[in-house]
Amino acid sequence: MALQPWSDARLPPAVAALRAYDPGHDLVAFRARFGSRLVEVGSNENLLGPAPSALAALADPGAAAWRYPDPRGSVLRDALARLHGLDPDAIVLGNGSHELLMRIAQGFAPAGTPVVFSRHAFAVFAIAAAAAGARAVAVPSLPADHPAMPLGHDPEALASACDADTRVLYLANPNNPTGTWFEPAALARLLAAVPSTTLVVVDEAYQEYQPDAAARSALRLLPRYRNLLVTRTFSKAYGLAGLRVGWAAGDPAAIAVLERLRESFNVNGLAQAAAAAALDDDGHIAAERAAADAARPVLAALLAELGVGTLPSRCNFLLADFGATDRAEAVERALGAGGVVARPMAGYGLGRCLRISLPPPARQPALLAALVQTVRAATP
Ligand SMILES: Cc1ncc(COP(=O)(O)O)c(C=O)c1O
Repeated sequence: MALQPWSDARLPPAVAALRAYDPGHDLVAFRARFGSRLVEVGSNENLLGPAPSALAALADPGAAAWRYPDPRGSVLRDALARLHGLDPDAIVLGNGSHELLMRIAQGFAPAGTPVVFSRHAFAVFAIAAAAAGARAVAVPSLPADHPAMPLGHDPEALASACDADTRVLYLANPNNPTGTWFEPAALARLLAAVPSTTLVVVDEAYQEYQPDAAARSALRLLPRYRNLLVTRTFSKAYGLAGLRVGWAAGDPAAIAVLERLRESFNVNGLAQAAAAAALDDDGHIAAERAAADAARPVLAALLAELGVGTLPSRCNFLLADFGATDRAEAVERALGAGGVVARPMAGYGLGRCLRISLPPPARQPALLAALVQTVRAATP
């Protein structure tokens, strides 16, 4: 057959090997079918929705829709810099932190060079490495029967996997899909052990759900380690996933590389305004964390009663282990048939698990009732 422009043989090998994003579910069809009864616990959006201050910033969208957005995102970067004690030049904005995680591999990992991450880490790390044509090195996670942090990152093993050629080490803390975390001391040891020529990227998408979030953040280590980059997002605790705003902080020289690569108007004006306004409302983040802290043990206890184990989590979701892939699949199908969307985990090599986001308080009874019914039905 004649070659076409899109034939694999004509594409960059890294592009030919990529697969398009699989959303897991047809959410549009689910929403049309179940309307306001739908319980969406598949994508780790927050429990309480956006802060009123963020919604107020969206109230007059006319000018923001008409004019190009500020390409530098100055108001939002300044607000982030004030809140976190950073230099605005140490911050770059992204169309979600997903964009920045992709740009990091594109910018810092030439084709064929090693990019290291943990086996059960956030899926975008592998995708970013593949898109750059870099060599993905997936390091075994802690064992499933680890007493403290089953399937968590193993900071020592990750550090040993990095050598002078390793360009990027990605770590999510806390991690999706496991919910597990590691303490600042472990990160400090890892940073001390990794070559200074390796960029260590700490993805803190769920950081706001940790106790003492500011004290535990890798942002505090930036002055000590020039090879550290930290990514954050407004998609999780801030409840602004639909607006697509993330940011990265690091050495201004590293940030300047990402500035060269990102699309000029990557964060739209409404998103910039709402994100900046969200930062004014500390109380909303505290309420969100409290809602998650209240919902997590309720969901874990119900699952335990049903014979389903969960991993320790400092995120707004639990990874539930159904013990067998066919059981997890049966529960997932039955939940879906009843209007509850949970996240299947086969793509993460964890087919026997489902990831279940902590629901908004008003949705909690419906989720718990659906779990009781479906898990009992799927239990031999
Ligand atoms: C660990 C982690 N990092 C980053 C992201 C990307 O978030 P966003 O692109 O919405 O900022 C997610 C989203 O689920 C995530 O779970």
